[in-house]
Amino acid sequence: MICAPLSGPDDFEGWRRAARAFALAGITPSQIVWQIGGERDLFATESLPPPSPSQGAAFSVPRAFVQLAEAAILHRDPERFAMLYALLAQLRERPGSLEDRADPLVRRVEALAKAVRRDMHKMRAFVRFRELADDDGSRFVAWFEPEHHIVRANAGFFVRRFASMRWSILTPERSIHWDGETVSEGPGAHRGDAPADDPVEDIWKGYYAAIFNPARLKTGAMLSEMPKKYWRNLPEASLIPGLVAGAQAREAAMIATPPKPPSRPGNADAAWQALRGEAMACTRCPLYHDTTQTVFGEGPVSAPLMFVGEQPGDQEDLAGRPFVGPAGQLFDRALEEAGIDRTRTYVTNAVKHFKHERRGKRRIHQTPETPEIKACRWWLEQEWDLVRPRIIVALGATAGRALLGKAVTISRMRGAPIPLESGAQGWITIHPSFLLRLPDEQRKTEERARFVRELRVIGEQVRALA
Ligand code: URA
Repeated sequence: MICAPLSGPDDFEGWRRAARAFALAGITPSQIVWQIGGERDLFATESLPPPSPSQGAAFSVPRAFVQLAEAAILHRDPERFAMLYALLAQLRERPGSLEDRADPLVRRVEALAKAVRRDMHKMRAFVRFRELADDDGSRFVAWFEPEHHIVRANAGFFVRRFASMRWSILTPERSIHWDGETVSEGPGAHRGDAPADDPVEDIWKGYYAAIFNPARLKTGAMLSEMPKKYWRNLPEASLIPGLVAGAQAREAAMIATPPKPPSRPGNADAAWQALRGEAMACTRCPLYHDTTQTVFGEGPVSAPLMFVGEQPGDQEDLAGRPFVGPAGQLFDRALEEAGIDRTRTYVTNAVKHFKHERRGKRRIHQTPETPEIKACRWWLEQEWDLVRPRIIVALGATAGRALLGKAVTISRMRGAPIPLESGAQGWITIHPSFLLRLPDEQRKTEERARFVRELRVIGEQVRALA
C-alpha cells in the first residue's frame, strides 16, 4: 500500500499533485491509502513518488473533471479521494466517460459535487451575523454548521458580499475571519462562542418581513429550502408562524397596492463583476460540458430595461457575448427601428451555456429543458436583483418560463404588461430567431413589423417610468 498524505479534508491541490504522480507511475486505485493531516496508515509501506517535470507535461484531463473534483473533494464522504482517483484512472482509459450520464462512478461523483454545491448555497443563504463591539470597533460574528468541508471554499463569497465589514464565521471545523483586507483562519469553535442575539437581528427580521411574499407561500418548498436545522440560527425564523398565519390578508393587501419602483444596492457594479466571475465557473447543470464558456449578461447594471433570451448560440458561445449571431443582428436592427438603444439595456439569457448536439463539424442548437432553465435561474435571479430593471422582456417561450416560473403561451400573453413580484413590469414577446425560421416572406414581414411595434411600446413605457 502507498500512503498519500493530504494536508486537510479539503486539500484539492494535494490530492491533484498526488493523483498526477500516481497515475503517471501506473498505481491502481486499490494500492493507495489517502490520509489527512500527517497520520500514517499501519499498512502503508511507501510514500508518494515525486512527479518529474517531463511526466507532468504529458498529463492532461478535461477542465470539467477538474471542476467536478474541486467540488466533490469537499464532501465529507471518506471515500471521496479514492473515488476521484478511480474516476481519473477511468478517464485516462475512456476519455469520453465523463459525458456518460449512466456511468455509475460518474453519477456517484456528481452526487457528491451536487451535495457540496447545495451545502455552499445553504451557507450563503443562512449565515446570519451578530454585531459585537471589540477594541477596533464593530465585528460581525456568525455561527454555521456546514455538512461538508466547504468553509474555506466559500470564504471568497463572503469577502465579496461583506467586503466593508469586519466579520468572523465560526464553524465546528474551522473559523474564518475578515479584517477588511485579508482573510485568516482559526480553529473550530462551539456554538456558544458566537453571540446568541443582537440588535442586528431586528434588521434581519425587518428585511425578512418585508421580502416575505404571501402570494408565494408554499410551506413544503420552504421547509426543503430552509431545513429546520438552520432555523435556530435565523432570527427571522421566529416570524414565520405569524407571517404564515397572516398570509391571506397580506396577499389581498398586496394585490390592492400598486408596486413601488425597485431600488438597486450601492455596490451593484462590483457585485455584478463578482457574480459574472462566479458564473464563469458554473457547473450547476451538465451543459457546461462541451461549451467554450459561460455567456453571461451584458449592459449597464443601472439599465432600466432588461431583455432575456433563451440561450447563447454557436457564435455567442465562441464570442462570450449574448445576441451577437444572426438572431442578435436581427434583434439589433429591430431595436434600432423601435428607437431603443441596445447599449442602454441589459441583455442576458435564461440559460447561459450553449446546448447543442454535434453533427459532423456543426453544432446544432437544442432547446434547453426545465431542469437546465431551473438550474440557471440561480444566475438570472441574481442579475435581476442587481440590475433591478423597471421592465423585463422575455424573448420567446424559454425566457417566458424563466421569467414567470411556468410554461407560457406567447400568442396569449404578448402585447400587454405583466406585473412581477419584484415590482418590475414583465413583457413576453417572440424570440428573434422565430422570424429567421419563418419560410413565408409575407408572414415574415408582418411578424417582424409586429415585433418592432411591441418593442416601440416597451421603449415608450420605459421612458414613461423613468
Ligand atoms: N439566441 C438567444 O436566445 N440568445 C442569444 O444570446 C443568441 C441567440
